[in-house]
Amino acid sequence: MGSLDGKNALVTGGTAGIGLASARALAEAGAHVFLTGRKQETIDEAVASIGPSATGIRSDVSDPAQLDAIVDAITAHGGGLDAVFTNAGGGEFATLDAVTLEHYLDTFNRNVAGTMFTVQKVLPLLNSGASVILSGSTAASRGIPSFGVYAASKAAVRSFGRTWAAELAPRGIRVNTLVPGPVETPGLVGLAPAGGEKELLESLTADVTLGRIGQPAEIAAAVVFLASSASSFMTGSEMFVDGGEVQT
Ligand SMILES: NC(=O)c1ccc[n+]([C@@H]2O[C@H](COP(=O)([O-])OP(=O)(O)OC[C@H]3O[C@@H](n4cnc5c(N)ncnc54)[C@H](OP(=O)(O)O)[C@@H]3O)[C@@H](O)[C@H]2O)c1
Repeated sequence: MGSLDGKNALVTGGTAGIGLASARALAEAGAHVFLTGRKQETIDEAVASIGPSATGIRSDVSDPAQLDAIVDAITAHGGGLDAVFTNAGGGEFATLDAVTLEHYLDTFNRNVAGTMFTVQKVLPLLNSGASVILSGSTAASRGIPSFGVYAASKAAVRSFGRTWAAELAPRGIRVNTLVPGPVETPGLVGLAPAGGEKELLESLTADVTLGRIGQPAEIAAAVVFLASSASSFMTGSEMFVDGGEVQT
């Protein structure tokens, strides 16, 4: 018996990195997983790698009109939704003097509007006992040069987690913010300038108490925990899976 047998789960940005590992882990725990992304080819690859317990949906979270496709697919499957991981997002480096309106809007549309409207859209589908898992970042608790807009967007997400936990508790829905430290994903490695990948990972490792970069499966294990009744007394919280990055 898996901890999520018979449950339905949604993972936005589930075609790579933390999202793909989480979609796989949720399916292994027994859930039917709906995963989203912006490219049909990578969506199809992700679904094929997980098997019949996954459904792919093409949907850009930064465009609220595209979120209807998520609702349509889950409604057609039936059974509502028991877990949501609003994982889609990310950011780029820009120092304060270099921030443009485009950079700001792109980051906030992906991480803030994307999170808010995804959860808003699926609200009618959420079953009593459902778990909403928001994607935070240790950047929101630090002052990392060049990461100000991204850090602020993740601070906004963490704030949503507190408010929505209070708003949704009467429906028996829990909301928690999962906060990864640096995790080896295409998104993280892609932040490095060409040829500078090793240097970036080494500099990030220096900030981690455990002395290494995290792996997507280590975040996915926490997603399964938060999605399941094993975390039934947790809501509104911020769960750090950061190798100690902001704890020591
Ligand atoms: N990796 C880290 O060290 C780290 C640390 C803290 C927090 N996080 C957070 O964890 C989340 C995942 O990070 P990651 O490093 O695993 O990212 P990643 O490797 O870049 O993967 C991102 C996933 O999201 C999808 N995606 C991106 N933008 C999207 C959009 N607008 N709509 C729908 N899907 C979208 C991507 O597919 P397509 O591009 O094909 O759409 C891909 O499946 C992000 O919210 C990130 O901020 C990551």
